Amino acid sequence: MVTAFPVHGEPLGPYGRPEGPGAATRLDLVLPDAVRDTLHAGLSRLPDPSEDIDRATARCHQVFAALPTELLQAVMDFGRHIDTAGVALVRNLPVDAVLPPTPDDGGPSRAKRGFVSEGVLLGLTGLLGEPLGVLTEKDGRLIHDIVPVAGGERTQTNQSSAVFLNFHSDITYDPTGRYDVANPDFLVLNCLRGDPLGVAVTYYADARDICGRLPDDELRLLRSPLFRLNAPGSYTRGAAGGAEVLSDPVPIISGAEEFPEITVSANGVRALSEAAAAAFERLQETCREVAHPVRLEPGQALLVNNRKGVHARSRFGARHDGRDRWLQRTYVRRSLWDIRYRVTPQNRRVHF
Ligand SMILES: [Fe+2]
Repeated sequence: MVTAFPVHGEPLGPYGRPEGPGAATRLDLVLPDAVRDTLHAGLSRLPDPSEDIDRATARCHQVFAALPTELLQAVMDFGRHIDTAGVALVRNLPVDAVLPPTPDDGGPSRAKRGFVSEGVLLGLTGLLGEPLGVLTEKDGRLIHDIVPVAGGERTQTNQSSAVFLNFHSDITYDPTGRYDVANPDFLVLNCLRGDPLGVAVTYYADARDICGRLPDDELRLLRSPLFRLNAPGSYTRGAAGGAEVLSDPVPIISGAEEFPEITVSANGVRALSEAAAAAFERLQETCREVAHPVRLEPGQALLVNNRKGVHARSRFGARHDGRDRWLQRTYVRRSLWDIRYRVTPQNRRVHF
């Protein structure tokens, strides 16, 4: 595997480890300063990308073409190959010269004048696939502002801060009963403002590492359709008054032994037997054992494969004073073709 510009020395979290069998599932990349500055120059002239997203992604593509070939290929390989890492931390990215206060309502900042962070997000996204929106997630916006929201502190959603956000995949409610089909292939998280207390840690656990640790009998249960996933909180709040909206029975782990796919809902998993429930508990413990920890800081972006692994976040403090942790996120599909049955008439990137 190409590991251009490797960087080591990430501080370890309680579940982390620097190397060993899991090393192949995490990729670390860092931009040389001169490349960061070139990207910044290109992105500092970017108009608000929400005005014409396809034009903006084309512009960002031109800017990111300035990446050194090894680095560019490493990101592209991350997106296109089944045997590459499931999480990639990209460091020394350009940042906005002036950053307004962190918004506190989960929506975009109305005070932000530059669009460097959006350009970084869309540039990296474009190397993996296409950004998409879902009406029930952040009102269908293509760039999601991930901030702690008052009232949502203890929910299993991206509004939370006061609870450990369990290991999960980002899934999408779908009337077919399968929530793991129309969901994003990747998430890209770009950090605009780190947690001022340095407490917030994002975790990624790869299904290959998880399967390597689980006993055969528990793996067999997790590979059986013995689990019903609850739809995301953003969906159940708006569509069902907070009541559960469960998927068809599905396996948690599926696909080829060497290249497993994993799906876990954040908002609750209903196991259909006691043995299945015990196997699911064991799965969450195993995720903690194999997880890669990342403490995101400004100028860093995390690329997450939403099929190869699951992610989690530690609890952290929120003060709602404009200085809270602030990430921007995209949902990414390699292709929008397979989810065209969900497209909204208003916008070809936005889905029901
Ligand atoms: Fe998530």
